[in-house]
Amino acid sequence: MPLLTDWLLRHSVVMCLLLHSLVLLTFCFHHAATTCSNRCYCSESETGGKTVRCSNLQLTEIPLDIPNDTQRIYLDFNLLTSVPTNAFGGLSNLIELDISHNELTQLEPGAFRGLGPSLQFLDLSSNKLVNFNPEAFDGLRAYANLTNNPWHCDCNLQMAMPRVDLEPVSLTGIVCQTSDPEEIGVEGHSFLLKPDIDLCVVMKKTTDVAMLVVMFGWFTMVISYLVYYVRANQEDARRHLEYLKSLPNRQGRSEESSTISTVV
Ligand SMILES: *[C@@H]1O[C@H](CO)[C@@H](O)[C@H](O)[C@H]1NC(C)=O
Ligand SMILES: *[C@@H]1O[C@H](CO)[C@@H](O)[C@H](O)[C@H]1NC(C)=O
Repeated sequence: MPLLTDWLLRHSVVMCLLLHSLVLLTFCFHHAATTCSNRCYCSESETGGKTVRCSNLQLTEIPLDIPNDTQRIYLDFNLLTSVPTNAFGGLSNLIELDISHNELTQLEPGAFRGLGPSLQFLDLSSNKLVNFNPEAFDGLRAYANLTNNPWHCDCNLQMAMPRVDLEPVSLTGIVCQTSDPEEIGVEGHSFLLKPDIDLCVVMKKTTDVAMLVVMFGWFTMVISYLVYYVRANQEDARRHLEYLKSLPNRQGRSEESSTISTVV
């Protein structure tokens, strides 16, 4: 009996060691296969440019482990809601970035910082972008696909457009779904292709009206204060005169005339 247990014990130790090394080995191999990025599929072209494919993975955040020599990233058909500042910092070889078909509602200022010199194509189509934030595109000269977003066209958008360096034709992708003012008739059209529309005119008018109202308010206040001041002084003068009249006559006369002259 003790012999059997001894045998079992020795062999189980060996088995255990074997199993252990097997597990370690698989871990090592697994790691080697995914040095590129944890969840995405990576490939390399003959010229050495890496492509990282993270399409359709239900991602809610941009992966942080994208290698810095990547040239193309496909993040389309995910659940991304925003692109934070410096989200692709360090990827100075990036040529193409596809974030289409996501839930993007906002692009933080500097979202594509560092991609300026290399990026040629940025796909932001089929998202939920409403307001155009020029600071997000700081330094980018790429062609951007901005179509299929519920763009809101207003004076801010109009003023933002000259501030971006994107390939100009990109901006024709901004088709207004809503607008302010609503009645101006830009909805359903590409804002850039309607050069005769000025969304800032109405705002200028409203600020003019506001200025007028404020000035009128000030004016009324000043006038009422003046009127009040004059009235109060008149009252004072009248009371003072009455007081002087009530004084013994002779002394009063001379003083009365002098006060009247000062009041007048
Ligand atoms: C990527 O990072 C490594 C190590 O941090 C660095 O040596 C290399 O120059 C970087 N490559 C690029 C293209 O930035
Ligand atoms: C821009 O995106 C839309 C919608 O995703 C697509 O149909 C269109 O072909 C794209 N345009 C370019 C020039 O890639």
